[in-house]
Amino acid sequence: MTDQLEIKELTKTDPLPYDLLLLADPSRKNIDQYIFNSTIYVANITGTTIGCYVLHEKTKETIEIKNISVDSKHQSNGLGTILLNHAIGTAKSRGYKQIMIGTGNSSVGQLYLYQKVGFRITGILPDFFNKHYEEPIIENGIQCRT
Ligand code: ACO
Repeated sequence: MTDQLEIKELTKTDPLPYDLLLLADPSRKNIDQYIFNSTIYVANITGTTIGCYVLHEKTKETIEIKNISVDSKHQSNGLGTILLNHAIGTAKSRGYKQIMIGTGNSSVGQLYLYQKVGFRITGILPDFFNKHYEEPIIENGIQCRT
């Protein structure tokens, strides 16, 4: 699969991959607060978009991976790892010194994956999901709160 994979920056005229973006962030309202001043990269296989990630500058030195997503039919095949490493490479090549990524307390698989590619936990935002999402998010049988 990976030999056919093409990862490219989305141009301003390309349609936004909301189906993928919403897998990682269930609030369209929240997505629209960062997507229009971010850079979006899509992973295509034979012309079909099967994954994406979004880079958003926080400061001149720090960039955040705001959204990373792989189509459910293509998950657990290593694409998420490829996209994360691509995002890290892109951020470094653009001169950022710090790369951030956030996820919820209930996203145990994502917490595992992010640490596996090198991220380290540096802080928690208590009640972040209660404050920023209208609907409760339940994942792996627990509520996503922080
Ligand atoms: N649950 C359990 N394990 C997981 C999960 C999960 N949700 N996601 C990844 N893993 C593990 C895999 O088992 C694998 O383990 P291994 O290397 O020991 O075999 C490892 O992480 C790497 O998996 P990949 O195949 O590289 O990752 P994948 O292609 O499945 O993509 C991703 C991971 C992007 C999280 C995908 O599952 C997805 O799109 N999920 C829905 C959207 C989402 O949750 N996005 C992240 C939200 S936070 C944010 O966007 C900043």
